[in-house]
Amino acid sequence: MKQAVTHQAEYGHGDTTYQAAGGQVGIRKLVDCFFDFMANDAKYSVIYDWHPQDKEVSRDKLALFLCGWMGGPRPFVEKYGQIRIPQAHRHLTITAVERDLWLDCMSRALNVQDYPPDLVKYLQQQLYIPAERVRKVCMGE
Ligand code: HEM
Repeated sequence: MKQAVTHQAEYGHGDTTYQAAGGQVGIRKLVDCFFDFMANDAKYSVIYDWHPQDKEVSRDKLALFLCGWMGGPRPFVEKYGQIRIPQAHRHLTITAVERDLWLDCMSRALNVQDYPPDLVKYLQQQLYIPAERVRKVCMGE
C-alpha cells in the first residue's frame, strides 16, 4: 500500500509515466489492445466507425501521440506535425456517451497490460481530462 502511494506520486514528473508504460513499445501494445477491443465489441461501433478506413494510421497516431502525452519523446509531432487534441475532434459529435465509450475501451486495454495497478488508476484519471476537453469542444461549450 505504501509503495503504491509512493509510485503514484511519481507519475507525471519527467518521463516517469512514459517509462512505466513501457516506452513506445509498451504504448503501442496498449493502443493495439484499445483498437482491438473497439473493433471487436459492437458497443464501441459508433466510435470505431468514425475512424478513417486505414486503422493502422489511427493506431500509429494515437500511440505516437500518447508517448509525448505521457512525458516521453514526441514522435507524433515529428511524423504528423503539431496537433491540438480537442480541435482534432471537433468535426465529430462526441457527447458524454461517446466520451465514456472511449474511456471505457481504454480502461479495458489498460487493465490487460502488465502495468502496476496505481499506473492503471493514474492513467484512467488523467485520460478523463483530454477526453472531457474533446467533449466540450465538440458540444461547443
Ligand atoms: C472523447 C472521446 C474520443 C473519441 C470518441 C475519439 C475518437 C476519435 C476519432 C473517430 C478519430 C479519427 C478522426 C478522423 O480522422 O476523422 C480520432 C483521432 C484521434 N484521436 Fe481521438 N477520440 C477521443 C478522445 C481522444 C483522446 C482523449 C485522445 C488523446 C489523449 C485522442 C487522440 C487522438 C489522436 C492523436 C487522433 C488522430 C488525430 C488526427 O489525425 O488529426 N482522442 N479520435
